[in-house]
Amino acid sequence: MFELIYRSKAVPNLSSSDILDILKESREYNLAVDITGCLLYYNYEFIQILEGDRKSVMELFSKIENDKRHFNLDLIIQNEKHHRTFKHWSMAYHELKKSEVNDLSKDHFINSFLTISHLAEKPTDVIKLFWKLSNELLKS
Ligand SMILES: Cc1cc2nc3c(=O)[nH]c(=O)nc-3n(C[C@H](O)[C@H](O)[C@H](O)COP(=O)(O)O)c2cc1C
Repeated sequence: MFELIYRSKAVPNLSSSDILDILKESREYNLAVDITGCLLYYNYEFIQILEGDRKSVMELFSKIENDKRHFNLDLIIQNEKHHRTFKHWSMAYHELKKSEVNDLSKDHFINSFLTISHLAEKPTDVIKLFWKLSNELLKS
């Protein structure tokens, strides 16, 4: 098992339907290649953690790097580990309603984020870093 975290800036014209597209693509593809993780989007910044087998994660990461919907991509950390942390990732975001995504308030994000953070078991240092960076972003 392998994990990585990156952060990036969303393009200024990113719309809520772009976010829905990203979530849909991610859910389908990640399920198919057994990648899990967590994507946080707030205030035109993304932070994502991906976990899965090293080859699949790196293949996906190179697609994400070339995605024109964001820029200034910064690979923060990568690490080998034993256990998967985000077993329920796809479900957690799939259940977002379109209306909720159109009305992305800070409270909504913080609540979703806290719900997901409670799913984490045996956090690695990388997972702890993910929560720390995410908290900083949400408080910005
Ligand atoms: C911030 C961000 C996160 C993304 N995360 C994923 C992801 O976890 N899984 C995924 O399949 N695509 C994700 N994408 C979309 C990919 O960049 C890419 O569009 C998708 O893999 C389809 O690529 P393809 O058309 O080359 O197959 C993400 C895009 C962005 C902007």
